[in-house]
Amino acid sequence: MHKVLKLQSVDSTHKYAVRLVENGKAEECIIIAEKQTDGVGRCGRIWESPSGNLYTSIIKKLPPDTELGKLSLTVAAAVHKVLSHYVPDNNLHLHWPNDVYYRRSKVAGILIAVLDHWMIISIGVNVNSAPDIVNAISIRDISGVEVISVEEVWRSILIELDIWLEAFCVSNFLFIKNYWLRYVNEINCKVIIKNGLDSITGIFKGIGDDGRLILGKQDKDLFISSGDMFLNVEGITVNYE
Ligand code: BTN
Repeated sequence: MHKVLKLQSVDSTHKYAVRLVENGKAEECIIIAEKQTDGVGRCGRIWESPSGNLYTSIIKKLPPDTELGKLSLTVAAAVHKVLSHYVPDNNLHLHWPNDVYYRRSKVAGILIAVLDHWMIISIGVNVNSAPDIVNAISIRDISGVEVISVEEVWRSILIELDIWLEAFCVSNFLFIKNYWLRYVNEINCKVIIKNGLDSITGIFKGIGDDGRLILGKQDKDLFISSGDMFLNVEGITVNYE
């Protein structure tokens, strides 16, 4: 049993977890909040966080030799597996590096931080509402169910995450990689990978055995460990966040 911290409102469960570690007060625990007032996404983006959606951060001891890229793919696979149960038409996809999408709209995002000997796994799921932007959707919108229990989604994710992290710890990455290849949508598509101010275009050829993205560029393959991926259709970047 893990210690669980249930908060009604917090700036961000992720920032809360970071503060625990930075103040030397970390222990293995799970933080969940009904709403966040200053939710953050990857690359410093804002994560809108009204009540009715899932906002959770998990603090765990960092297993030795953890490869962050693989860890992030593992967490995304676990979240995808759980959310698939709510999606009737099987159109839920994984989007590199660790998002869950329904067609072209984002349903869930993951943020991972490593501090000292701890890892913080933060998960946001649009359960009952999605921010008012083009490329976001909620599980409720997809499933048509009147109200979905955030608690149920959260508990299922925690159970599934334990299973996938176990596989990850015994180095069963092939299983995780194959799951990704089954549910990733853009293989063989032209994509742009953006990392800070850098961007690189190529063909998304898959995921390597080490968890890095394989980008075909002219006659060679590049292996990319971090960044954001966007579809590049006829020279136009499809805004895919
Ligand atoms: C992303 O896709 O950019 C990552 C989104 C992560 C959002 C979650 S919600 C719970 C936790 N607290 C935060 O402020 N962010 C993460």
